[in-house]
Amino acid sequence: MKKKIVIIIYILLINPVFSDEKMDLGLDIFNNKAECSSCHKLKSANSNGEIGPNLDQLRPTFEQVLAAVTRGIGVMPAFDGILNSKEIEAVSYFVSESTK
Ligand code: HEC
Repeated sequence: MKKKIVIIIYILLINPVFSDEKMDLGLDIFNNKAECSSCHKLKSANSNGEIGPNLDQLRPTFEQVLAAVTRGIGVMPAFDGILNSKEIEAVSYFVSESTK
């Protein structure tokens, strides 16, 4: 019984449908809504921006992307108010997961 519950929780946590949706949303925001792609190079998004750091080399953590996107950093604008919190989370998830 206990084992079953653990397995169910495990399946929910790693559910590929959930994480795929988040990755898809993150990719869409990266290339379209927020145009991170215009400033950043990121292989998994096929982007070649050269204004900001190369994200494949930087390999930022989720928290690092979240902070940069929410508050802005240097000449990079803050996206708080442009993207909602779900979108900020998705794009941060996408960048950190795809460069891990
Ligand atoms: C107008 C160009 C521009 C856009 C658009 C932009 N960035 Fe940046 N980004 C930069 C620059 C420049 C830096 C370096 C800032 C510094 O260190 O002074 C940076 C830094 C970063 C960093 C590193 C933060 C750190 O801790 O060093 C991350 C991660 C990042 N950007 C992700 C994103 C994401 C995700 C988006 C889209 C939501 C985005 N950027 C949109 C220009 C941009």
